[in-house]
Amino acid sequence: MERGWLHEYGFFLCLILHLLLQGRGDTFTINCSGFDRHGVDPVAFQAVFDRKAFRPVINYSIPTRVNISFTMSAIVEVDAQLQLMTSFLWLNMFWYNPFITWNPEECGGIRKISIAAENLWLPDIFIEEFMDMDQTATGLMVYVNSEGLIKYDKPMRVVSICNLDIFYFPFDEQNCTLTFSSFIYTVENMLLGMEKKVQEISNTSQDLIRSKGEWVLLDIHQRMMKMTVGTNQYDQIIFYVAIRRRPRLYVINLLVPSGFLVAIDALSFYLPIESENRAPFKMTLLLGYNVFLLMMNDLLPATGTPLISVYFALCLSLMVVSLLETIFITYLLHLATTQPPPMPQWLHSLLLYCTSPTKCCPTAPQKGNKGLGLTPTHLPGVKEPVELVGKVPGPREAELNGCPGSTRAQQEYEAQKRHLVNLWIEFSHMMDTLLFRLYLLFMATSIITVIVLWNT
Ligand SMILES: *[C@@H]1O[C@H](CO)[C@@H](O)[C@H](O)[C@H]1NC(C)=O
Ligand SMILES: *[C@@H]1O[C@H](CO)[C@@H](O)[C@H](O)[C@H]1NC(C)=O
Ligand SMILES: *[C@@H]1O[C@H](CO)[C@@H](O)[C@H](O)[C@H]1NC(C)=O
Ligand SMILES: *[C@@H]1O[C@H](CO)[C@@H](O)[C@H](O)[C@H]1NC(C)=O
Ligand SMILES: *[C@@H]1O[C@H](CO)[C@@H](O)[C@H](O)[C@H]1NC(C)=O
Repeated sequence: MERGWLHEYGFFLCLILHLLLQGRGDTFTINCSGFDRHGVDPVAFQAVFDRKAFRPVINYSIPTRVNISFTMSAIVEVDAQLQLMTSFLWLNMFWYNPFITWNPEECGGIRKISIAAENLWLPDIFIEEFMDMDQTATGLMVYVNSEGLIKYDKPMRVVSICNLDIFYFPFDEQNCTLTFSSFIYTVENMLLGMEKKVQEISNTSQDLIRSKGEWVLLDIHQRMMKMTVGTNQYDQIIFYVAIRRRPRLYVINLLVPSGFLVAIDALSFYLPIESENRAPFKMTLLLGYNVFLLMMNDLLPATGTPLISVYFALCLSLMVVSLLETIFITYLLHLATTQPPPMPQWLHSLLLYCTSPTKCCPTAPQKGNKGLGLTPTHLPGVKEPVELVGKVPGPREAELNGCPGSTRAQQEYEAQKRHLVNLWIEFSHMMDTLLFRLYLLFMATSIITVIVLWNT
């Protein structure tokens, strides 16, 4: 008897449970009969549309989970002055609306329908770095499937603020952030999640950005965060968008011409200083370089001090220094040939030491020879022919010249003066070579420094 009762009781329990479960499974909120014959009945959705002002949940203490993902389709512009990055995103959002469910079998197999987005509650996800009016197109649609999963896609032109560091200018990489968050819903009401892996987002975006613009998308990383404001906590997803500039334009238009001009400037040291061409030549180069800088100014970032500006300043100062050097040497030569001052003893011995066969001091072979073998007839300012060092005309020659009247003392004085002039000329050439080498050394170190800085 007892067993039978138990058995009966169990049976009823099963029946009730079964009915309950079946009943639950069948509580479709949308009566979709006739959708396949007469089209969607707006009356069936009216109850849902009327609720659009409220977050669609049955139990209000359960947060709505919104999954987001995006595809970056273009990097339009990166503005270093305003610190803005303009990009194009296709934002996808997914969430459940439990008030929209129907039975696909009853509706002729309709599994998803599209609804105008303005009729439904939409999550207020925004990008915190956004710095522009939202120009999202109106009249967008959402897809709803029979389980109430809503898929909302919208294209966005995102002008986001980004901390741009232009120090390494044409070879720079930037790391911009896009922070997705809800505007008002705290974590008790809304949770954010990822629809797909960030690596997938990065891969599809890289495939999509096929344009050969200035910027290359390197990678996208992601981090989940909770932002606390006062007592409220907001869910956040931060995306780090790493981009790199294509430097070719700048290398061809800025670095190469500048390098050529400096190279020509360095080579112009081989113009003989006596021909008086060197200074005008360097002057012209300097002028040309200034014109080049003026023309290329538009290509440089308007703010900050990138390394490339330092490089340009360096090139300019190298040119100025070389011009100054030429002026100095020209002045020295002029002084030597018109009124040579007495040479200090130490300088004389240094000169002798340096021109001795075992050279230790910087005298380029050709230049040194030229300095020694110079016939100062070519020199401006030297009227009388002056002979080579050490070849002081002897008394016999002087007698043969038919100037017996000119005293021996005067001749000796003349010879000494010529010797002095030659010494000074030699000294000038030595100075020229020495300064040229210093210039080369300085140029090499500074350029190597800049290149090393660029590579770090
Ligand atoms: C669905 O609506 C049709 C009329 O449009 C009605 O005949 C039917 O009884 C309704 N079904 C349910 C389960 O309410
Ligand atoms: C609503 O959800 C909360 C938290 O999950 C739960 O404690 C509460 O019982 C639920 N209310 C109802 C009426 O189901
Ligand atoms: C969001 O993603 C999580 C796991 O990634 C998943 O469990 C959940 O169902 C998703 N929600 C929606 C609305 O897609
Ligand atoms: C993304 O692409 C890389 C190679 O380009 C591949 O190794 C990786 O598996 C891809 N990831 C996904 C999620 O597709
Ligand atoms: C971008 O910056 C964030 C934080 O500053 C860092 O975690 C991330 O690794 C950076 N990404 C790249 C590619 O440098």
